[in-house]
Amino acid sequence: MEPPLNVLLIGSGGREHALAWALSASPLLTKLYCAPGNPGIAAVAECVPISAMDFDGLLDFARGKAIDFVVVGPEQPLVAGLWDRFEAASIKALGPSMAGAVLEGSKGFVKDLCAGNGIPTAAYRRFREPGPAKDFARTLGLPVVIKADGLAAGKGVIIPETEADMVKAVDFMFEGGFGASGAEVVVEEFMDGEEASFFVLSDGENVLPLVGAQDHKRVFDGDKGPNTGGMGAYSPAPVFDDVVAQRTMDRIIRPTVAAMAARGTPYMGVLFAGLMIKDGEPKLIEYNCRFGDPECQVLMTRLKSDLLTALIAARDGQLAHLDLRWSDDAALTVVMAANGYPGDYAKGSAIRGIDAAETVEGVKVFHAGTALKDGRLVSNGGRVLNVTASAPSIAEAQRRAYEAVDKIDWPEGFCRRDIGWRAIDR
Ligand code: AMP
Ligand code: GLY
Repeated sequence: MEPPLNVLLIGSGGREHALAWALSASPLLTKLYCAPGNPGIAAVAECVPISAMDFDGLLDFARGKAIDFVVVGPEQPLVAGLWDRFEAASIKALGPSMAGAVLEGSKGFVKDLCAGNGIPTAAYRRFREPGPAKDFARTLGLPVVIKADGLAAGKGVIIPETEADMVKAVDFMFEGGFGASGAEVVVEEFMDGEEASFFVLSDGENVLPLVGAQDHKRVFDGDKGPNTGGMGAYSPAPVFDDVVAQRTMDRIIRPTVAAMAARGTPYMGVLFAGLMIKDGEPKLIEYNCRFGDPECQVLMTRLKSDLLTALIAARDGQLAHLDLRWSDDAALTVVMAANGYPGDYAKGSAIRGIDAAETVEGVKVFHAGTALKDGRLVSNGGRVLNVTASAPSIAEAQRRAYEAVDKIDWPEGFCRRDIGWRAIDR
């Protein structure tokens, strides 16, 4: 692909703002569009009001604007085959294909792939009926992990600590508690350890490691309360050191990419491995077929090379000779969410002070769930802002991020106050 390039980015969250910010700096870029985008993204791209699941609308738009390359942020359109639609129309896109996105779309598929290729993960079995699922769960002891097979928007996992809760969880899934994604259920062993997120780019054959990060999934300080999409992240993650990274590449990532190629469904795109690490030994929790949110925000903050060049190389099977440069500085992002998240929350409250926050050294505020109403910035989602700082250490990045958070005037929002604690406590 020869520059100049018209690029279409799909999505509307903080991950997409970070991607738009990185893409907009590319020397290859002529024009960046984002569908549907958000007010933060509008500063670096032209936003067009087409939803990420409106495939016909996206295709028409891409043809009309002579789009050369498409980057898809969220998983739902990939799992539903958006890459295949663009490529069938001769528009290049960063995958994966629908067949590749099964790595996120079916937990049972991934478990079977691990079993068939010696990839370390929790012991498991797949079930279509509650009785045998409960019997197997009893053999694993407590706590035990019960998962809906399909996409469940970051939910879909229950970790009961008592026999009664285990029975309830299995019944809940088979009764459609997580919708159709629970028609099949995976019961697996509980793994102990520290979690990390690791990202690679794959062109179907060659794999380019990116870097590791650590998310904070629980809503309250001290990792308490219900799971969320992620309340903050930082990179690098000390638990994911060079030895663990090498083991993850050798034992988990490369065998996966090779197995996908061998079955005739090569995996091209971003591959996100959720890992459990104990005593330096990584095991796979799950795969995602996209960047993490909010992990992407810290990755893009640390990336020094051109993102667009790397994504196009992944699409074109050209990753073998690509090398990326990363800042040695740490990056840390604090998610500001609407009061009530991840439960019910209100939209439409006024947000002020982002400019003031960005006067703090090394700070950039990504918009995750914002909108403009009568020219004023208001909240428009559960996770609303990602206050992101870079600094020579994680402790200093944390200090800068919270200094910036304190300049944001949004009484209807909250954040965790301890993002980065595992790294800082070490
Ligand atoms: P997932 O949606 O697969 O990322 O799971 C959500 C969260 O559940 C993960 O981030 C882990 O904290 C936890 N989890 C999932 N599977 C396991 C497991 N086998 N052992 C321990 N924790 C798990
Ligand atoms: N932050 C976790 C995810 O994006 O799935």
